[in-house]
Amino acid sequence: MATDLNRGAGRSPVTVDNALGFATLEHERTIEQLPLTGSLPPWLTGSLLRTGPARFEVGERSMRHWFDGLAMLHRFTIADGRVSYGNRYLHSRAYRAATAEGRIAFSEFATDPCRSLFKRIQTLFSPGQAISDNANVNLARLGERFIAMTETPLPVQFDARTLESAEAAPFQAPGQLSTAHPHLDRASGALLNYAAQLGARSSYRFFTVEPDATETRLLATLPVSEPAYMHSFGLTERWIVLGEFPFVVNPLALALAGRPYIENYRWKPERGTRFTLIDRRTGAPGPTFRASPCFAFHHVNAFEQDDQVIVDLCTYPDAGVIEDFYLDRLRAGKPITPGALTRFRLDTAGGGVHEEALADRDLELPRINYGAFNGRPYRYVWGNGTGAGGWLEEIVKVDTEERATISWSEPGCYAGEPVFVADPQAEQEDGGVLLSVVLDGRLERSFLLVLDAMHLNELARAEVPHHIPFGFHGQFARGLA
Ligand SMILES: [Fe+2]
Repeated sequence: MATDLNRGAGRSPVTVDNALGFATLEHERTIEQLPLTGSLPPWLTGSLLRTGPARFEVGERSMRHWFDGLAMLHRFTIADGRVSYGNRYLHSRAYRAATAEGRIAFSEFATDPCRSLFKRIQTLFSPGQAISDNANVNLARLGERFIAMTETPLPVQFDARTLESAEAAPFQAPGQLSTAHPHLDRASGALLNYAAQLGARSSYRFFTVEPDATETRLLATLPVSEPAYMHSFGLTERWIVLGEFPFVVNPLALALAGRPYIENYRWKPERGTRFTLIDRRTGAPGPTFRASPCFAFHHVNAFEQDDQVIVDLCTYPDAGVIEDFYLDRLRAGKPITPGALTRFRLDTAGGGVHEEALADRDLELPRINYGAFNGRPYRYVWGNGTGAGGWLEEIVKVDTEERATISWSEPGCYAGEPVFVADPQAEQEDGGVLLSVVLDGRLERSFLLVLDAMHLNELARAEVPHHIPFGFHGQFARGLA
């Protein structure tokens, strides 16, 4: 995915590509003060914490997929107008085994260690034993604890200042699969997440974890014969929104087929997309809705409006986008399928589902003003959009009321997920900043970009002395300085 920088007459041809974003980062550093240009808002104090894949080879073998790389934590701490930085590999069991044994020891999303049929079955049905905890997808603050997560039941707790990992998992999700996109209850701070229990009788489960608890509490159980691949779910004031895309797995095949995890899922468009509403207080299932087949990783937001439940997603026509993310394709510069910000109106008065596009351009890695607007009527979405090279390059803001978009981009730069941080004094939904880790392909290193969230004007950038491989998600820990 090369970006053509040959703009302006008389300049020599220069081409930058994004392959560095899929290259292993060996360095682990602590830097007290990064070189900074521009100025940071005085109210902005805290740490942007991110996780993401950073090692793509173990021993003689390479990971096959972007989602497989061994997790590294990154910390950008902002205080007194300065930015400090630290990065460290997450010492998950998967990482410790890989470094001790010099081989891939745990099953990842699309990369399997070589192991016997017996071992495969044992792995799948004994989640405490051998499922990877390579938590490279997202993280969350749960009370005073920080946890990194992937789509398996074991999060990894870490120290947000030193980035040291705890050996014991803070809790275990009640199933073999989970999501790295839990919701946080605004009032109690409790975590709400999904798990899939696989077996002769499989089920979707929703569970909660109180801020300081180590036990999970089961909130809802829905039987299912072929679970759909689930990366996130929606939450309104009243409902949990379970969106089942027709990308499903036969649990027994998952145990027996001998393929990496995600390659056992099958696209069955005839099933359509099914939305199920679940009462978030009682766990009782509510109405279900059937929409046309699509695929999504990310719920953006959901809310209730009169008789409707509004569900916003970044959708794809099918699950082929997962194949776009195999490393050999990405490193060869093949463009990815663009995601589309799509609104589903579920009519609880019996009117079915209405579907509409919310933006005239693509969007992925969506963020909102979560603290104030998750589950409520809202207006703004920020995310990444693809550039001319077909990879995520731009930062995009969508006004869902006006159906208008604005964007930030810089030639040769690849912007990561824009994390919204609200200005505590602001009254507007978009009053605050965006924090995005950007790979500068020209300089072959990354920087933290701080944009005004309203207009996408640059406020500041802090340069890191190395590249940061493309990651997925991060969170801002307010006050953690
Ligand atoms: Fe995600």
